[in-house]
Amino acid sequence: MKIAIVGTGYVGLITGTGLSSFGIDVTCVDIDKEKIRLLNSGKLPIYEPQLKDLVQNNVKEGRLHFSSDLENVIRDNNVIFIAVGTPPKADGSTNLAGIQDVAKTIGKNLNSYKLIVNKSTVPIGTGRYVRKIIEEYSDGKYEVEVASNPEFLREGAAVRDFFHPNRIVLGTSSEKALSILTDLYRPLYLLETPFIKTNVETAELIKYAANSFLATKISFINEMANICSKTGANIADVSEALGLDQRIGKKFLHAGIGFGGSCFPKDLRSLVKQADSLGYDFILGKGVVKVNENQRKYAFNRISDAFKDGLKGKTIAILGASFKPETDDIRESPAIYLAERLLKSQATVKIYDPKALNNAKAALPELICASSSYEAAINADAVVLATEWNQFRHLDLHHLKSVMNGDLFFDFRNVYTRQEAENAKLKYFAIGK
Ligand code: UDX
Repeated sequence: MKIAIVGTGYVGLITGTGLSSFGIDVTCVDIDKEKIRLLNSGKLPIYEPQLKDLVQNNVKEGRLHFSSDLENVIRDNNVIFIAVGTPPKADGSTNLAGIQDVAKTIGKNLNSYKLIVNKSTVPIGTGRYVRKIIEEYSDGKYEVEVASNPEFLREGAAVRDFFHPNRIVLGTSSEKALSILTDLYRPLYLLETPFIKTNVETAELIKYAANSFLATKISFINEMANICSKTGANIADVSEALGLDQRIGKKFLHAGIGFGGSCFPKDLRSLVKQADSLGYDFILGKGVVKVNENQRKYAFNRISDAFKDGLKGKTIAILGASFKPETDDIRESPAIYLAERLLKSQATVKIYDPKALNNAKAALPELICASSSYEAAINADAVVLATEWNQFRHLDLHHLKSVMNGDLFFDFRNVYTRQEAENAKLKYFAIGK
């Protein structure tokens, strides 16, 4: 069995590497020649736990290849996954330019039956649209099928998620396509992974529905936290009690400064926009987006309000830059939002992150990068814990306080207890407790 994956971003690289570990011959192709050069020299363009070893092993064993020759790769493979970026446009709708380009190139190079599998998160109806483009550019000379196989990979845990998924969704109405896809994922079938076999549109919607639902849980618990702050209730206990109700479940009930990343914000806005264009007002989705935007503003205001004489000239240390732990991804990161607003208020911002410092510095060159949490805290008037990396869970708060100039500690991921912070003579600010 041999397949091609178009797009070596996050999703394409992990899917391609994972499938090659199943013994499939995989060629990952990208128009970005520099990325392909990097991958061919054994380096990765992103940080993701376990990925580097896996890529290197599969390359060594001759099953995983990288190429920038899209046309040849298309002609050479009958199963082609599309995993190119689908970034948001300014109005929140999805930019399908990358998908359209790939579809046209497939159409122009169609030389036999091909199964095209959409892995990118795309608006409902895109499968049909891709098929139309391919048929148009190939004059309908060969049979082509377009299936949907959405990904549910969490950054920082993507390799584990690939090999131990909660479910595999296969969207196609063709028996032939279904049998090829089922065969590709056979090792997971043997692990008793549930397979949802459905039509293309349903598979496309499942991806948006899953992310929207998870984002809703987060915005919900953040609103509960904000109510806690006004009443003396404690969000940690509220979350625990809610999570023990098996109908609710424990996951995604951690209050904080809102969700970030490349998926939740983008997918939610896209679904709101798709619903709008279908004449349906997705009221809940709009609310979830709004709550999330407000949550990071609220966090900034907490810092700003703590300085009676303003932020100008103050030094703030931020711990964490990535949108969540175990990744160097800073897209829509609340930590970067805070850093940007603090810089705009003329504060000096020092930042430390185990993996994302280069990306943070590239986004905001005025940031002062530190090589540890304690170095960041030196002479700081306030320390803000913005991303809950494990190494921030056991800080020596006495030591942290001793190197600071001030005593403000904003624990925006609710990692510590008030008692722990106050024992170190820190003024403690958390979310909902
Ligand atoms: C998500 C989905 O989980 C994955 O299935 C999908 O395919 C891609 O998008 P990811 O963006 O990597 O994955 O991160 P995830 O772990 O889902 O967290 C998203 C955001 O929510 C992070 O900013 C995180 O800090 C925040 N979050 C998560 C909370 O604020 N509270 C929680 O309880 C859980």
